Amino acid sequence: MIIAIDGPAGSGKSTIAKLLAKKLGFTYIDTGAMYRALALKVINLSLDPNNEEEVLKVLENTKIDLVDDKVFLDGQDVSAHIRTEEVGNVASIVARYKKVREEMVNKQRQIGINAKNAVIEGRDAGTKIFPDADLKIFMTASPEVRAQRRVQQLKEKGFLVDYNHILQKIIERDKMDYERKESPLRPTQDYIIIDTTDKTIEEVISYIENLIKK
Ligand code: C5P
Repeated sequence: MIIAIDGPAGSGKSTIAKLLAKKLGFTYIDTGAMYRALALKVINLSLDPNNEEEVLKVLENTKIDLVDDKVFLDGQDVSAHIRTEEVGNVASIVARYKKVREEMVNKQRQIGINAKNAVIEGRDAGTKIFPDADLKIFMTASPEVRAQRRVQQLKEKGFLVDYNHILQKIIERDKMDYERKESPLRPTQDYIIIDTTDKTIEEVISYIENLIKK
């Protein structure tokens, strides 16, 4: 069984997908972590993410592996390093490139096929990676609430951040993810839309569990 959860940054998909996978005993696949790993390499090499040619050259010489909830960049565990706002923003830039997406999607699909039972989250999990997913959920929330959640998450990780700055970045990332040419973030008709603005994690989880039972 494949459960696809897509949605914009900060909508709660990672938290929900992770918890749900644990409860169901399914493999958790965080597709955004792979774009973030590539972004981290681009940043470390001081390259311009808007230069597609340079990014594709990096992609050719890069090995990105997802193992459980960890992501490895050229054999090194970078799971903690990819969680900054800067990496997220650069990930949104490099994720626009067709070749980048093709490579990531192929890998992600293979991981899901090997896992057999998986909760896979991202932007295109139910459109490109698994268009035949058994359940497709589009998770959303107001930009303000998403920004508040991001601020809280980053604070817990020890990062000092400004709410207005984060809100601005969320709006910018939304724009890039919704308006890009390749796999824009867009739920098809077979998605169930969950607005998490006024919902607790427990409410969302039990709602999804009921959907699975049905
Ligand atoms: O989900 P997360 O915020 O970690 O993803 C980082 C960025 O990677 C997103 O803003 C999006 O641009 C890109 N992404 C994507 N397709 C996915 C997952 C993430 O384009 N399946």
